[in-house]
Amino acid sequence: MTSDRSFPAGFLWGAATAAYQIEGSVTTDGRGPSIWDTFSHTPGRTLNGDNGDIACQHYKRVAEDLDLVQQLGLRAYRFSVAWPRVQPDGKGPANQAGLDFYRRLVAGLRERGVEPVCTLYHWDLPQALEDLGGWTSRDTSERFAEYASMVGDALSDGVAMWVTLNEPWCSAWLGYGTGVHAPGHTDGEMALVATHHLLLAHARATEVLRRVTKAPVGITLNLGGKIPASDHELDVAAARRADGHLNRVYLDPLFKGEYPADIAEIYPSRGPGREAVQPGDLAAISQPIDFLGVNYYSTSVLADPSRLQEAREDGYLVYPGGLGRHPHPDRVDVGRASVERTAAGWEVDADGLRDILLRIRDEYTALPLYITENGAAEHDYVGPDGVIHDQPRIRYLEKHIKAAKEAIDQGVDLRGYFVWSLLDNFEWALGYSMRFGIVWVDYPSGKRAPKDSYRWYKGLVSENALPATT
Ligand code: FCB
Repeated sequence: MTSDRSFPAGFLWGAATAAYQIEGSVTTDGRGPSIWDTFSHTPGRTLNGDNGDIACQHYKRVAEDLDLVQQLGLRAYRFSVAWPRVQPDGKGPANQAGLDFYRRLVAGLRERGVEPVCTLYHWDLPQALEDLGGWTSRDTSERFAEYASMVGDALSDGVAMWVTLNEPWCSAWLGYGTGVHAPGHTDGEMALVATHHLLLAHARATEVLRRVTKAPVGITLNLGGKIPASDHELDVAAARRADGHLNRVYLDPLFKGEYPADIAEIYPSRGPGREAVQPGDLAAISQPIDFLGVNYYSTSVLADPSRLQEAREDGYLVYPGGLGRHPHPDRVDVGRASVERTAAGWEVDADGLRDILLRIRDEYTALPLYITENGAAEHDYVGPDGVIHDQPRIRYLEKHIKAAKEAIDQGVDLRGYFVWSLLDNFEWALGYSMRFGIVWVDYPSGKRAPKDSYRWYKGLVSENALPATT
C-alpha cells in the first residue's frame, strides 16, 4: 500500500439522501401516495409503525439542508426524485408543483457550487402503479420511461449525473421476495420478474435521457461480498447462490447481456431466461452507460441450511432464520463472532469494499465507478456537552475510504464517494431507530446538529486526502 493519502484531483466527494426518507410533506403540492406510504401505514410493517409523513421535514427545510451541504465543502450531492410528486398517479401529465421543488433543489445546489446527482427511483413507486401490478407488470417500465422524460426535461440544465435506479435488488427482492420492504409481497418468482422489469426500466430511462442530456447516465447497485462459512462444497454453493442473487443477477445482464444460468435454474418457471424476457430486452439492458454506482455496506457469510450445526461448531453466530433482514430457504447468513458490527448488526468489512471494486473492474467493466452510498448506523446520542461524538462512524468511514483508496492505487477508475447519509432519516422498515446521518436530526423539532463525523468528513474533503492519523 502506498503511503500517499491523497485522492486524485477532482475526486467527487459527496453525500446522499433519498426522497421518502427525508422529505415529509407527503400530501403537499399534489403529491400522490407511494407504496411506502401504504406500507408504512399498514400495521406491523415498520418498526413502531414509523412512517415518512414528517420525516426530516426536508421539503420545508431544503434551503437549510443545502447550506449544510455547502458548509461541508461537498462537490456533489446525491438526491432522489419522488415519482409520486411528479406523477401522482404514475401516469398522465406532469405535476408542475412537484417538479418545481426539484428545480429549486437543483438550482440551489448549483448556486452553492455543488454538482447535483439525481436518482430517478429510490423505491417510492406511485401506489396507483402498484395497484396495476407494480414491478411485476411490464408496463411499469414504460411508465418509468415517461416519468424519466418529464424529470429529464425539467432538470437537465442543472443535473450533473443521472442515476436511473437505486439498488434494484432491494426493490425486487425485499419488496416482492421477502416482503420486508414495500409493497411487501413474498414470492421469489415475482421478485425475479420484478428484477427484469426494473432493469428494463433502467434501459428505457437511459434511452430517454440520452435524448435530453449529455450528462453521464448510470445505475446504482448494492453489491458486496458473499463468503462461504467453510470450504465445504455445500457452503461454497450457498455462497455462490447468494452472490448470484445479489451481484451477478444485475451485473451480468448490464455488462454481459445475459442472466446468470444458475439463477434461471433456481427459478425455472417465470424468471429471467423465461417468459418475462422478450426479444431485444437484454440488448437494451446492456446498452452502454457512463458509470456504475456502487452502494456498499457490508459482507455476508453464508452457510447451507443443512450445515448450521457445523457453522455453530466453527464459532459462527447462527440465528433461527438467519440474521433476519432477508431470510432465504436455500442459504443462511451466519455471523462472524469476532467481527465488529454497526448498530444495525451489519459486519464491518472495509476490505470487502476494495474487493468488490476490483472484482467489477476485473470481471465486468472498466467504466468509471462511484461509491454512491457507504456509511454506518451507530449508537448516536447527544452528549451532556450537547455534541454528538460519533467516533464509531468516523472509524467506519475512515476504514472504507482507505479501502477505496487502495482500489484506486490498484488501478480502479473510482471517481467519487458519497457518504450515506447527509441526515439521520427514515430507515425503511427500521423506521427512525437507525441513525445513518453525519448530521443529527431532532425529529420532533426538525432541528439539525452536525455530528463529529460531519466535521471529520469536512476536513477530509477540504484536504482531498485521508487524515494523517489513519
Ligand atoms: C441502502 C439504501 C438507503 C439506506 C441505506 C442504509 O440500501 O439505498 O436508502 O437505507 O441502505
